[in-house]
Amino acid sequence: KRVVVLVSGSGRNLQALLDHAAAGTLQASIVGVLSNRADAYALERARLAKVPAICLPHQNYPERADFDRALADAVSALAPDIVLMAGFMRVLGDAFLERFAGRMLNIHPSLLPRHPGLRTHDRVLEAGDSEHGATVHFVTPELDGGPRIIQGKFRVPAQHTAAMLAEKLMTEIELRIYPQAVAWFARGELGLEAGRVKFRGVP
Ligand code: GRF
Repeated sequence: KRVVVLVSGSGRNLQALLDHAAAGTLQASIVGVLSNRADAYALERARLAKVPAICLPHQNYPERADFDRALADAVSALAPDIVLMAGFMRVLGDAFLERFAGRMLNIHPSLLPRHPGLRTHDRVLEAGDSEHGATVHFVTPELDGGPRIIQGKFRVPAQHTAAMLAEKLMTEIELRIYPQAVAWFARGELGLEAGRVKFRGVP
């Protein structure tokens, strides 16, 4: 399967996906990485892995829909079976999402439906939550609201700051569950049917 990854930041999730692809445990190859930010270290990770790295700065497009269309065209040109958001920090409109419906995944740093949106680690602490985690879900027009595929969680340790929670979540949960979900999807073991996640088991 052909995978395209959308990024905006450091790309640690991307790195885990690249490592699994290289090891043969993703059941897919990453054929392109696209960023809306030129300074995203994720682009450098892609180049080091010899994967085409493309930057489309969103500020170059006067309207949000223009950026969506340009990004959709750039993604389509790579002919992906799967489109992944991995720390991609732009909200995409329907024009983009409709073109990749049912084959687009995101990882979000909270136990959705709790804490959609930004600053999840701070909000976990502010709310006094006893648990924190991450969620891989299908992308739909509802922000962080698409059907959920897998979650991983832990008890919030005493005295942890938001930064410590973010690091614990990344290393213990995110870097494990995203490659797992992508491998399931790439092997055809799960899909979106009538708006629900359907696990098909090993064929
Ligand atoms: C991760 O916490 C991810 O869940 C969130 O943004 C962060 C991206 O980090 N959507 P990285 O770019 O993968 O290092």
